[in-house]
Amino acid sequence: MEKLIEKITSQKDPKELVTEQLISIIIGKSTSNMADSQTNQNLANYLRSRLCQNIRIEDLTKIEGITALQAFQILSAIELGRRFYKNNIARKLSNEDWDFSSLRQSERQYGVHFFHHYTAKFIPQIPAKLIRLLSKGNDIVVDPFMGSGTTLIEAKLLGCHSYGFDTNPLAVKIIKAKAMIINENKVKEIDKFLNWTDKERKYQNRKSEGIKQVELFENSHLWFRSDVAYKIKLILDESKNYSSEIQNFIQIGLSDLLKGMSNARMDSVEPILPENPIYNDKKHYYREVNNQTRNIPVFDRVYSQLKRMKHAILEFNKEADRRLICKPILADAREVSKHVKNCNLIITSPPYWSAQNYEKLHKLSFKLFNLKTEEGKEIGRNSSSYLHDMKIVFQEIAKVLNGYFAIVIGEDNKRKLHEKLYEIAQQIGFKPFEIIMRRISNQVSRAKQIKNEYIYVFKI
Ligand SMILES: C[S@@+](CC[C@H](N)C(=O)[O-])C[C@H]1O[C@@H](n2cnc3c(N)ncnc32)[C@H](O)[C@@H]1O
Repeated sequence: MEKLIEKITSQKDPKELVTEQLISIIIGKSTSNMADSQTNQNLANYLRSRLCQNIRIEDLTKIEGITALQAFQILSAIELGRRFYKNNIARKLSNEDWDFSSLRQSERQYGVHFFHHYTAKFIPQIPAKLIRLLSKGNDIVVDPFMGSGTTLIEAKLLGCHSYGFDTNPLAVKIIKAKAMIINENKVKEIDKFLNWTDKERKYQNRKSEGIKQVELFENSHLWFRSDVAYKIKLILDESKNYSSEIQNFIQIGLSDLLKGMSNARMDSVEPILPENPIYNDKKHYYREVNNQTRNIPVFDRVYSQLKRMKHAILEFNKEADRRLICKPILADAREVSKHVKNCNLIITSPPYWSAQNYEKLHKLSFKLFNLKTEEGKEIGRNSSSYLHDMKIVFQEIAKVLNGYFAIVIGEDNKRKLHEKLYEIAQQIGFKPFEIIMRRISNQVSRAKQIKNEYIYVFKI
């Protein structure tokens, strides 16, 4: 045994030893003896699975072949490491405060983040904190499930290049608007549109009488009152006079308001029609809503939305380095390596198993802008292949990542999905680095059911 230890220590720096060899040195069990080597391996696996958690002597002595003295030796080595090497990133991560419950809604949607609602959107403070702690300037940050692009925007604000993937074409449009590089001409274009909207406000009181119903898309008359549809059509026609980027900017401002201006029930996240034009809104103290008579000031709403967006995009352009890449890609996360060759940090929150269907949630925008998600591409639609699909995404990430991988996922008490994804990542070769558990607050609708959220951080 002594000879073996001599051999190992003469050749290598402890940093280069695998965990099994480190264990062998600490507890004096040979790695060349089959039974001892199995014990070392079992112990190493146990330690890996309990990363950052408390381990007691009784836990270790349950492993076959480990005595109380050896358990004590291992815990002493861990304690030494903890005392003298705790000033590293892992400590920084867990020492941070991840509870954002005291933030006001405006703080959770600061800057350009308010441009468009998006179900299961990140609080920007989460990717921002992860980027600050896990990256250096000019790193490449990727979000394979970018959604409304929270990670991409924060990466750009913090001096990193960013790429994002999504199968939802509306997500790409949203990020193009949020990350638009502005110049004098574009400011003039936005101002021209604001002036036009301001003038049109005089038609605000024009109701259905005398207005011919315009069809914005098939059966749009079910979704929009004729006066509302007419004004939306005017806005869409006007937007054609602008450059494609400003046209997209206007469309995103309008898209965010669509559901609220439609006949869809106010108490449902997914647009659904009430049985009667007069119904009770369950989300707002059962107040009565009358879709035939309620005031829907289309131009006022569009005007104030675009005005706020203009202010935010100017600020964003002041704060962010415009030379940094910030690129949303309409593509499947299972094909990340086709588009990105290397990156230093991945931050993402995956789609949940059967939880959301983004095309349905944004159906009015999809219809109005004639968007489509490619059949079968959205992960989570087919629950039987969910874990397999996610495994492929993790394999793709492993091909391009040299650095940290942070995945933010809600606790799933029923199916234990979060734990399964944690295991799959390890099977692929991601090394657990840190687990952060945070309570979720201020949630709306279905997401209310999720109480805790995990941030699993891996390294590869
Ligand atoms: C939980 S959301 C991400 C929200 C995002 N973190 C944000 O802040 O807005 C998950 C996203 O995964 C997308 N998605 C689902 N299947 C996908 C796939 N195969 N490839 C890429 N994106 C996909 C959905 O369209 C959705 O936008």
